[in-house]
Amino acid sequence: MAFLKTKKRTNYCGELQKDHQGQKVVLMGWVDSRRDHGGLVFIDLRDREGIVQVVLDPQAADMACAKDMRGEFVVAVEGDVRLRPEGMTNNKLKTGAVEVAATSCAILSKAQPLPFHLNDDTVTEAVRLKYRYLDLRSENLQKFIRLRHEVVKKVRDVLSRDGFFEVETPILYKSTPEGARDYLVPSRVHQGTFFALPQSPQTLKQLLMVSGFDRYFQIARCFRDEDLRADRQPEFSQIDIEMSFIEEEDIRTINEKLLREIWQTFRGKSVGEIPKIPYSEAMAKYGSDKPDLRNPIVIQDLGDLVKDVPFKVFSDTLQRGGVVRGFGVPTKEEISRSQFDKWTSIAKDNHAKGVVWIKKDKDGYNSPANKFLDQDTLGNIYKRLCPDGTGVALIVADDFKNACDALGALRIAAGNQFALIDKTKDAFCWVVDFPLFDYDPQEKRWVACHHPFTAPKDEHLKLLQGSDSESLTKAQAKAYDLVCNGYEIAGGSIRIHNSEVQALMFKSLGLSDEDAKNKFGYFIEALSYGTPPHGGIAWGVDRLIMILCNTEAIRDVIAFPKTAKAQCLMSESPSVVDKHQLIELGIRLAPKATDL
Ligand code: AMO
Repeated sequence: MAFLKTKKRTNYCGELQKDHQGQKVVLMGWVDSRRDHGGLVFIDLRDREGIVQVVLDPQAADMACAKDMRGEFVVAVEGDVRLRPEGMTNNKLKTGAVEVAATSCAILSKAQPLPFHLNDDTVTEAVRLKYRYLDLRSENLQKFIRLRHEVVKKVRDVLSRDGFFEVETPILYKSTPEGARDYLVPSRVHQGTFFALPQSPQTLKQLLMVSGFDRYFQIARCFRDEDLRADRQPEFSQIDIEMSFIEEEDIRTINEKLLREIWQTFRGKSVGEIPKIPYSEAMAKYGSDKPDLRNPIVIQDLGDLVKDVPFKVFSDTLQRGGVVRGFGVPTKEEISRSQFDKWTSIAKDNHAKGVVWIKKDKDGYNSPANKFLDQDTLGNIYKRLCPDGTGVALIVADDFKNACDALGALRIAAGNQFALIDKTKDAFCWVVDFPLFDYDPQEKRWVACHHPFTAPKDEHLKLLQGSDSESLTKAQAKAYDLVCNGYEIAGGSIRIHNSEVQALMFKSLGLSDEDAKNKFGYFIEALSYGTPPHGGIAWGVDRLIMILCNTEAIRDVIAFPKTAKAQCLMSESPSVVDKHQLIELGIRLAPKATDL
């Protein structure tokens, strides 16, 4: 590498401008493309800052290697920056007004032809993930990963300025329940025992409050073995925050301040007033606890209009204590049969039995429920849901939760399909007044809606003493989520800071004293040694960056993400391990569940 010994890089390719005219520069980067023209070689040289055109003459002294340069070779050039000739400027390039006339060059590393062209959208995701290090060369991913760095740096600056200490907490730890399965790590030294990778640093950050650090933050890695979706990864990062001597509103205020600074810096936009929406209202109006408020569709109740109708799907549901609710899709488009089928399958995928529609045509109101509902009833429902007389009304009859889930999913689908969402805007809200508990029908037990360290509202503490279903259903939590454009970007709560209340909480969750002691004995004990009132929040870094990058795939903003099946295609992990490693760990593999 004689070139590197004698010459150091002076500039990044992408930064050269008219002002650099006449300067001698040394550049190093990848050959993005190459053209031969009139005995000269033109290369677009690329580094992380962008691309600049370099002109090389293979006949000149020290320049013979120019003729061997190929796409994605890593090369170095020294040369003079000059203005491009009249009419040859390239407005698409940041550096398009200039070029570098090379005076010497070297090939630093050759490259075999790549398995795909960078920036080619037609390449399958599987191929890109296998060659993630190459896909990361593409313009978009470079931009996203860079923005991620800048946002995280800003967060560190703002929080440090506001008196937060960054503290690292362990990755090899004990189960920290956040509702997912744990990733376990077997111990070699203590065979038969396991660490759990943290689902979040929840207990640890609370212990830091017991220790008196007062204000903590961390860019924390979290690990959750759960069903993946477009906005979920098994390994992800949080901006994890905890504060002492505060109440719910204080946490919201300081986090809104952080949000405003991020949006101003990276979106160039100010964040207006952020509404606070009670959980029950979010579910009733938007069918979701993370509503996209840019979507104008609002769900309405129809119980008063249909309680006495002869249509059993409606009247029986109401009699059983269920609901009949719906919304209007504001569109002038003719809705096809297959569209109704699609809506029906969305409703069914989201726990409802189906969806009833009503549309207006020249003969009156048309609906699959025509046989059971007279024109007056259909008209009344239609007018409530579609007050301007256009569009189609969609109605679901089911218990409240199922109806919300189905209508929430239909609301999103219709909003996207009929372009009802103004994607140039961002809409935030805090969702508050969450229930403290959720009933898990599969596990047949109560689980914490946020996590078991969340404090009940003061006036609901007594509901825990009863531990009966009715009381537990009514109990609300001092919990809050920050929602942006239909994504939950942060969630947190005020914590229980009293060891007796914490023990009561575990009891309400059906944990025996012994289980609670085994799992969280150290934590309950810690709370008894002088714990300040405290609370906090955690932001999903990846989701936040996703929104700032205007992408809908969380993988786009993580350098080395996993697939939807929680695998890394590049390293082919998880993978089988050496028998000796298993023996050292005292592990014998059972037959695979699928082989039994
Ligand atoms: P929670 O479980 O709500 O709270 O997580 C906080 C935020 O983390 C993000 N998030 C995820 N991002 C990507 N992939 C995932 N699998 C994933 N799961 C969650 C979301 C979410 O809002 N310890 C508590 C916080 C607290 O109470 O302070 C916690 O982890 O954006």
